[in-house]
Amino acid sequence: MKTPGTVLITGTNRGIGLGLTRHFALRGWRVFAACRRPSEATALRAVAAAHAGRVEVLKLEVRDQAGVETMGRELLSRTASLDLLVNNAGILPGDDSEAAGNLSIAPILDAFDVNVAGVIRVTQAVLPLLRKGSNPRIVNITSGGGSLKATSFRRHYSYSLSKAALNMFTRRAAHDLKPSGITVVCVSPGFIRTDMAGPEATLPLDEATEVLAGTFERLGPEQTGQWIDRFGQPSEFAW
Ligand SMILES: NC(=O)c1ccc[n+]([C@@H]2O[C@H](COP(=O)([O-])OP(=O)(O)OC[C@H]3O[C@@H](n4cnc5c(N)ncnc54)[C@H](OP(=O)(O)O)[C@@H]3O)[C@@H](O)[C@H]2O)c1
Repeated sequence: MKTPGTVLITGTNRGIGLGLTRHFALRGWRVFAACRRPSEATALRAVAAAHAGRVEVLKLEVRDQAGVETMGRELLSRTASLDLLVNNAGILPGDDSEAAGNLSIAPILDAFDVNVAGVIRVTQAVLPLLRKGSNPRIVNITSGGGSLKATSFRRHYSYSLSKAALNMFTRRAAHDLKPSGITVVCVSPGFIRTDMAGPEATLPLDEATEVLAGTFERLGPEQTGQWIDRFGQPSEFAW
């Protein structure tokens, strides 16, 4: 039976990535769900078992260039094309209390390695498959913390700097890949209850990821280069 599409999602063992895996599977998509330690990913393996044949788990550490390339080759052996890549894996390292003058460099480099370089590594590894996809889309999960016009500076420096860079990568990649018909957007998912956001987050995971999956499914070339919210509307955040 023809599926609505094939998607690769990173960081799927918990949080938003796990919710998206479930909702894309429920929508009938073929889902490649990547995570660092598949053998320990109990919740993800339960989702895969509930949607047998539709959800396949892949090993992926986005910091590891060779490992990302191995994952790309593995994907190539399993599918002829990819319609959607969701760059979801992300970290929030460092300390909220830091301010200019006492910033540590290590968490900033960590955040760039995962939230920016990780996205670039994965995107480049699967681009040949996306080029063969139908209505190919790349979704980078960003945050209002990356807005240059942010008025609240609650979030860590490392996180904000890396998400601002991810937003710029989105704009540049959207421009470069437009002639190939590949749509590239960044999405603020909303304040969703996960390990990263904590219990004070306003949106339940299942509800929010159901909305996000529908939005990603509907994305099209007219949106390329945009920063959108979880409903697919232009984001309230300014670049
Ligand atoms: N929750 C929110 O309110 C919110 C708001 C704005 C943006 N976001 C963004 O949404 C994305 C997902 O966030 P979340 O809230 O679901 O966070 P989360 O619960 O902390 O989950 C993060 C996911 O990323 C994975 N990951 C981290 N480092 C990785 C690496 N080096 N290689 C591969 N995978 C890695 C984690 O895997 P492990 O379990 O192996 O660490 C986990 O699966 C992030 O990009 C985040 O910045 C979230």
